Amino acid sequence: MLRVVVLISGQGTNLRAFLDSCSNGSVPATVVAVGADADVSGLTHARNDNIPTFIEPFDSGADRDTWGARLADRVASYDPDLVILSGFMRIVPPGFVRRFAPMLLNTHPSFLPDFPGAHAVRDAVEAGVTETGASVIVVDDGVDTGPILAQRHVPILDGDTESTLHDRIKIVERELLVEVVRDIANRESAVIEEK
Ligand code: GAR
Repeated sequence: MLRVVVLISGQGTNLRAFLDSCSNGSVPATVVAVGADADVSGLTHARNDNIPTFIEPFDSGADRDTWGARLADRVASYDPDLVILSGFMRIVPPGFVRRFAPMLLNTHPSFLPDFPGAHAVRDAVEAGVTETGASVIVVDDGVDTGPILAQRHVPILDGDTESTLHDRIKIVERELLVEVVRDIANRESAVIEEK
């Protein structure tokens, strides 16, 4: 069983789906802790499942490296094999990346390298393109620039809003994440070779 720590910043609907995939046996992993940068609603999913949670608040006046080192210590205390940024809306500093990559993944709601950053779905709608997508990547020091492990296109339909499109993208993100983590657990992923 892969020991996984998940970091979130919001509702955690993808976390909920991942927890369900672990408990129904679709992925041979166990979430050993869920962390956040604030007391966000998504932590409820972990609390309901009796999974330990932690909060490492990001104070905008604080030094990012110091915050990142504290966050890394919290994550490391759960001895994870894999760390997943699942809607974690903070850029983790290089020291954090060095500590966990390549076993540090991020799910992103676009077909990278298109539409990186915090507003990927809105940017795709505003760009007037006909499709966007979802990606699972290894985190590196850039913003959504790491090696792509899996991705799939999602069409943008007439009348789509940011919200309706994001809901459909998340369905794909959840499938991709399960596929990637299953490959890592079965030692069939390139990430393992990099390690
Ligand atoms: C997901 O779509 C995730 O890819 C995105 O936030 C959403 C979280 O939803 N992350 C980013 O945009 C990171 N750049 P959730 O809280 O409902 O799981």
